[in-house]
Amino acid sequence: MKEINNIKIYAEETYEDMSARAAEIFCQELKEKPNGIFGFATGSTPIGLYKELIKRYENGEIDFSGITSFNLDEYYPIKKSSDQSYDYFMKDNLFNHINIRPENINIPNGEASDAQQECLRYEEKINSSPGIDLQILGLGENGHIAFNEPSDSFTEMTNYIELTESTISANSRMFDSTDDVPKHALTMGIGTIMNAKKILLLINSERKAKAAKEALFGEVTPECPASILQKHPDVVVVVDKAVADVLDI
Ligand code: F6R
Repeated sequence: MKEINNIKIYAEETYEDMSARAAEIFCQELKEKPNGIFGFATGSTPIGLYKELIKRYENGEIDFSGITSFNLDEYYPIKKSSDQSYDYFMKDNLFNHINIRPENINIPNGEASDAQQECLRYEEKINSSPGIDLQILGLGENGHIAFNEPSDSFTEMTNYIELTESTISANSRMFDSTDDVPKHALTMGIGTIMNAKKILLLINSERKAKAAKEALFGEVTPECPASILQKHPDVVVVVDKAVADVLDI
């Protein structure tokens, strides 16, 4: 483990090693805070971590019955039952396989009739909780975190956004065609994310290396939303070798 710019970075060999390290960090937090509040991410990056968590749950090592979850984001509009929704993703990849209480799961509602109202509701729900103890994050190829896209200012609260062409194209691999990717999303803001007590950022594969370097070692700028994490007091980053090589760590 190295500490650079106040950020702890673990460089692991493979995606599986990265996922196992992330699971260890997550489980440590879960054991210390069995009633804690955990922030989850979707996308391909955390799938290995979720598999590890399921394995440890099945082995009787961990218990999710006391936790509350808040997901980062959701497409808008989208039906929860759609297999492209983040609601579906979380159930499929984690929640249906562990003992989290369904009433303790929070995901922005892609079916809400009013997107702005839904953002307010979600932000209030987070604010009326004791706060997120550990937030899991992935990194976009354009430096986004959650769906906070490069821009000329950092977003504050949960907000309704238009996805950039670059994110639509990156996410089209999960859809039948680029045209099927929703053009909007509901996302925790940068301010919401920065309020989390601890952040666990996972970055793997060469296609993320440039964004990783800018986020961790570049200027803090809303042009690379993840760069704000340099200002968070407790960030742990886990990367695979492809990223570590480019970071030169
Ligand atoms: C997902 C999310 C996104 C992803 C990012 C990386 O909830 O908030 O910011 O973490 O787009 O996606 P993957 O992991 O698919 O490369």
